[in-house]
Amino acid sequence: MPDIEIKKLCAFYGKAQALSDLDLSASEGEIIAIIGANGAGKSTLLDGIMGLVTCTGSVRVGGDEMLGKSSSATVAKGIGYAPERFNLFPYMSVKANLMVGAHTAREDVQTNLETVYRLFPRLAERKNQETATQSGGERQMVSLGRALMTSPSILLVDEPTIGLAPKVCLEISEILRRLSTEMGLTVVVTEQNANFALSLAERIYVLEGGKITSSGTADELTKDDALAQSYFGTKH
Ligand SMILES: Nc1ncnc2c1ncn2[C@@H]1O[C@H](COP(=O)(O)OP(=O)(O)OP(=O)(O)O)[C@@H](O)[C@H]1O
Ligand SMILES: [Mg+2]
Repeated sequence: MPDIEIKKLCAFYGKAQALSDLDLSASEGEIIAIIGANGAGKSTLLDGIMGLVTCTGSVRVGGDEMLGKSSSATVAKGIGYAPERFNLFPYMSVKANLMVGAHTAREDVQTNLETVYRLFPRLAERKNQETATQSGGERQMVSLGRALMTSPSILLVDEPTIGLAPKVCLEISEILRRLSTEMGLTVVVTEQNANFALSLAERIYVLEGGKITSSGTADELTKDDALAQSYFGTKH
């Protein structure tokens, strides 16, 4: 049974439909990526899983239906979310921002904090720094760390590399891989950076205009000439 299984997901902003009949799944410990251009529906998909957008269809986590449940029930079920543009509190310290994620997992606070500091030693060194004065890469680390404070088994990450230098993208990629291999987390990541997605994810879904138009392993997708040309900057 997949860890997360989405079937016929449709999302709506008022009367406007942003996602249509979207199917996808990820098994335990797997990293999947959803790639798509601006406005394709990437954030809507993750917001929909979190119960933040009106949706129809089915989102099953560990076999239990989550659609229609509150966001806090979704977090309690083990879904952590690092949203686009982070939404950090700029004039609070790194540690205080991390603690914002901790109130749903009180018993695990100390262990989770240690895990976050082990994964991101730079955050441990700068735990008292206000996030307003951090680099984009460091803020992305705080955002991922805050999501990890909720003790998730599935981590949703919206465009982690946006605006980051290639070296920092590699660091983020390495962390996401460790979360999967060392901690067994299932990772669902959205990206416009298709090459980042290809190098990281075991399976990739292509999202266009609110619909999944193709999916497969990196090898399968790069063999498709039209896809390779429009997303990966290569042609065979
Ligand atoms: N709050 C909202 N109200 C109405 N329409 C919205 C809202 N948020 C997003 N949309 C619409 O839903 C569609 C999908 O938007 P979404 O933000 O999910 O795309 P995205 O793939 O995350 O884009 P980006 O790469 O720019 O972050 C777009 O047509 C967008 O205009
Ligand atoms: Mg988005």
